Order: sequence, then C-alpha cells, then structure tokens
Amino acid sequence: MLNYTDGNTTVCGIIGNPVRHTMSPLIHNTLADMTGNNLVYVPFEVPEGGLKNAVRGAYELGIKGMNVTVPYKSDVIAQLKYVDPLAESIGAVNTLVRDEALKGYRGYNTDMTGLYRAMQKEGVELEGETVVILGAGGVARPTAHLCIQKGAAKVYILNRTLEKAVAIAEELGDERVIPMDIADYTEVLTREKSFFAIQCTSVGLFPDVNSAVIEDEEFYRHVSAALDVIYKPLETKFLKLSKAAGAKTFSGLKMLLYQGLDAYELWNQDAGIKITDEQADRVYKSLILEVTGARNIILEGFMGSGKTTVSEILADKLDLDILDTDKAIEETEGRAITDIFREDGEEAFRNMETELLDTIVSDHWRDMVISLGGGLPVREENRKLLAEAGKVIYLRTSPEEVYKRIMGDTTRPLLQTEDPLARIRELQDARSELYELAADIVIDTDGKEPLEVASEIIDKLGI
Ligand code: ATR
Repeated sequence: MLNYTDGNTTVCGIIGNPVRHTMSPLIHNTLADMTGNNLVYVPFEVPEGGLKNAVRGAYELGIKGMNVTVPYKSDVIAQLKYVDPLAESIGAVNTLVRDEALKGYRGYNTDMTGLYRAMQKEGVELEGETVVILGAGGVARPTAHLCIQKGAAKVYILNRTLEKAVAIAEELGDERVIPMDIADYTEVLTREKSFFAIQCTSVGLFPDVNSAVIEDEEFYRHVSAALDVIYKPLETKFLKLSKAAGAKTFSGLKMLLYQGLDAYELWNQDAGIKITDEQADRVYKSLILEVTGARNIILEGFMGSGKTTVSEILADKLDLDILDTDKAIEETEGRAITDIFREDGEEAFRNMETELLDTIVSDHWRDMVISLGGGLPVREENRKLLAEAGKVIYLRTSPEEVYKRIMGDTTRPLLQTEDPLARIRELQDARSELYELAADIVIDTDGKEPLEVASEIIDKLGI
C-alpha cells in the first residue's frame, strides 16, 4: 500500500531512534487512505543530538504532525511552543501538532489519552476503581498519572525494584498511590477483593512468551479486568492467566491503535475528521495481521480441500478481501486456464503464477485471504515468495475424503479416468510433501465442516 502523492500531499511522520520497527506508518497511511486524505506518514530516524534541528527542520518543511518515540519523548518538550497539561504533568510528549500562529509545534501525549480511550471502549472505568500497576518503568509511570487524574480510588505500583515504585509515588504525591515490592503482592490480595491490573513490565514480551511477572493463580482470581501493554504476542501469559480466571482482557495493541487514532484526529482537527468505530476496527485488524505475521492468510491444498469455502468464511469473519490465484490469472489473461495450458503450455502458466506472487510481495498487498492454485507451491521460488506474502495454511485431506467430496462433479477433468481415487492418490503423493514444506500451519480437514476449519485457522493464527 502506498498512498497517492502529488504537489498537495501533506506529510506526517515519526521521529525517534530507532524507528525501523514502528507500526505507526501502517496506522496512519491506512487512516489516510480510508478517510480520503491526501497525506503520507513516514519514519524519520533522528541521530543523537539532532532533535532540536529535526523539530525546527520539520516545521520549515511544512510537516503537519509528528509522533515522537524513544528516546525523545521527554527531551522534545524543550522544543515546543505549547504543551498540553496532561503531557506536561507526565513529562512526556508523543504527538506534535503544527501550529502556524505559534510558528512551531504543540505537544500532546496520546499514549495516555489513547490508553484511556481504549479502556473506555473496553468498558473499563477508572473512576472509583482500584488499579494494580505491575512495573515502574517508562510505561508504568504515565499510566499511574493517568489513573490518578481519572479518579482511581487506589493505585498500587508493584515493582521488583521498590525504589522506582516509591519514586513514582513521591512524584505523584497523592495518598491514593501505594508503592510496593512486587514480591509482597499477596499483601494486595488480602486488602483488595478485586482490581483492574495493568501489566507494564517487559516480562512476557516475545520471545519470552511463557513468562508472567506474577504466575500465582490466586492473584488472577482478584483481577476483574486486565490490560497488558505488550502486544507481541497478542495474548501474553499475563492475559492468558487473567482470562482463565474469568477477567475481561485486552492487549496493548488497542493502546497502540488508539494513540494513533488520537494523534490522527489532532492532526486533522481543522478538517473535522473523527475516526468511526468501523474504521478503527479495520485499522486494528491490519495491526493484528501485522503483529501475527499474517499480512495475508494463504490457503493451499488439494482440490476438494475446501479452499474456496473456507476462504469465503475467513474473508467474511475477518473482513478481508479474497484473491483466488487461478481466477486472478484467468481475469488478467482473459481466457480460461485450460486454454492457457493448451495454447501456451504449463510452463507459461507457472510463470504467470510466479509473476502474480511476485507482485503480491513487491507491491505489499495485504489483508487478503489468498487461495492458491493446486500446483503453485510446487515451485521452490514460489514457496519462498509465499513465506514473505503471509501465513500459509495447508488444508490437508485424505484421498478418500477428496474423492467423496468431488465425486459428483463432472467438470473435473481429473475424474474422467478409469480409477479416479488412484489418480487422486498419485497426485497427492507427489504434492503433499511440498505443501507441508510451504505451510506455516497444517490443518487436517477430514470430517470437519468448513466453519470448523475456519475457526481452527483463526485460533492457530492467534487472531
Ligand atoms: P520501559 O521504559 O520500556 O518501561 P523499563 O524502564 O526498563 O522499560 O521498565 C521495565 C519494567 O519491567 C520495570 O518495571 C522492571 O522492573 P525493575 O524496575 O525492577 O527493573 C520490570 N522488569 C523487567 N524484567 C523483570 C523481571 N524479570 N522481573 C520483574 N520485573 C521485571
């Protein structure tokens, strides 16, 4: 996806160091596309010591808005013409809004307004609530500020290094804030029957996916709602434990989403742009697919494996577009595959398949369910392209099941032989190993309804 650009294009971006792994371009370019806004969003890696010139230069270049990420969220304040009170009290700014009258940028903290918006969308109220924050680092600190500002009844800050929790409590200077050593968490359990838990440590972050900062199930029995600021993996051990104990859970990806939406709305305030829930859902879906590595969901399998039906269900459930490689090639060529085979030969058709895959990868097509022609994964080059295009799911079927499913179909040339079952076996033997080689996930579909298969895919992808 590349947004349209011309002489009138507005530029926004993100400054930080490093910025290579940022997902903000995905959020904002998708939003620009959806709202019909002639705007592009790009990353700017700012070297140490370069912040002042970067902000000044951005203004002179007409850049409309910027996000600010690590390590500049505090330092950037000195370069601003105005700082929003919430951001000021936290001492961190993540969003700059161009102000022509001030001849510079205004600063906001949408990490926190976004976190609040995410909580509200998930039906979690802070007012009068007891909150337990796990951790006392860079995310825990502003989170504690937010909880106090929004009227939480009590805010426990539990950290391995007690002094850091104490420092936040002192900074807030509010008797509702209670710092504690995380080793003493049972003390909280004796005092509080139920609380909202916000996980702000780095424990559980990919690849350390089987750890939670507190593993004791008793703790989770007191959790009414749980938020993990980590979004990779989408469901951390902390969230799994909370969910198992019956708590409402939501991932840090919602925080990421809403900080982006808040920033986008701030930049486009003059145009009166408000992101609808439906638009927010679409962006969230793209983020989920990006985080899980399933830029596209690709189905491979023998004929009769259910590729078409399952792809329709997936597209419907996840609001994705469908691409059937056979159909796409037929449309581009303006002739049927049988004609391509007859007129140009199999090799020519295989080249068309490779070309299509190459386009999908190099043009960054995304958010699609792609159903593959049966022979496509046979080429090694294609399997490499598939690995880049998204997650490949092999819908595995036994020859007997395939025979049963397509028996009545007289349009299948394959069945116009003496012994169709033997022919199916022969073809499957030749291809199944290569299918497995190409697959990220294998699903056995024998005896399963397409809906069941689709649910299993969603489950295994962790969407
Ligand atoms: P960030 O700025 O990204 O929040 P940070 O400031 O290093 O990163 O904070 C990480 C948080 O995770 C801290 O609260 C840290 O606890 P300490 O202050 O005691 O270092 C917490 N953390 C990291 N690894 C931990 C572990 N293995 N057990 C408990 N807490 C841990």
